[in-house]
Amino acid sequence: MPIVNAKEMLLEATRGKYAVGAFNVTNLIQLEAVVEAAIGKQAPLIIQASVAPSKFLGPNVIAAIFKTLAETAPIPICLHLDHCSDVEFCKTCADAGYTNIMIDASKQEFQENIRQTKEVTDYCHTLGNISVEGELGTVSGIEDQVKVAEDEAALCDPKEALEFVDQTGVDIFAPAIGTAHGVYKTKNPKLDFDRLKKIADLINGSQPRIPLVIHGGTGLQPDVVKKLISLGGAKFNVSTDLKHTLINTTYDYISSHRDEYNPGKIDAAVKEAIKEKIEYWIDLLGSTGKG
Ligand code: 13P
Repeated sequence: MPIVNAKEMLLEATRGKYAVGAFNVTNLIQLEAVVEAAIGKQAPLIIQASVAPSKFLGPNVIAAIFKTLAETAPIPICLHLDHCSDVEFCKTCADAGYTNIMIDASKQEFQENIRQTKEVTDYCHTLGNISVEGELGTVSGIEDQVKVAEDEAALCDPKEALEFVDQTGVDIFAPAIGTAHGVYKTKNPKLDFDRLKKIADLINGSQPRIPLVIHGGTGLQPDVVKKLISLGGAKFNVSTDLKHTLINTTYDYISSHRDEYNPGKIDAAVKEAIKEKIEYWIDLLGSTGKG
């Protein structure tokens, strides 16, 4: 299938009231597991690499693996750079072949956030078929190198959201509505559903134009996930759940096979466990069969 950027895929999800899973990966085994699971479910897919894994493997290596897997897959797949606060590294990854770039200037003042987001958006649009995600307000918790303390987190102002998307020309928009990166401290975190609805109405009222992103998927209850999608969430980010699955599965496998020295078997166990997780998320997000 031709490689696509995320915007069209997510506009379709917005119209169809489902969400596309955007899954963070840190290595090849996770990457293959995510792609195989999405193919099995015939679901559109966004593969995400944060800044640290992108730098560790190198943007060109990640992009080359992505291209090899995506070109032969019978589903649409994007490669997304997640939460990058460095404008120059956003451009490096766009040059390397990432199809969606998130410039996270959400810790900056409003006008500076607009300036940086617009710079990356203009660059990506000039370069080719690359979409850009921007964020307004801040999501608490830790995602890779971006750390936001709970008392530092600020929710997105709906009027500013409209100004932000209009002035930056961004393709996809992540408003902070109370979700957080990492593990939630309570089963029912306080989310601002009304705020999400207001933002969705203001930006996508009569006709969807800028798909909305929900960060902090790990730990949200299924009914909450469904509600966020019904209010306009079209891209759903999941990271911590997959990191825990990788580490716990590796630990359990090694603990119960202390005499075995066959890395392939550890990889196989991790791949199966990640695939199961991804299948759970794809079903929950309603994207099964939409690819
Ligand atoms: P979690 O780690 O809470 O799943 O959040 C993922 C995310 O939002 C990545 O951008």
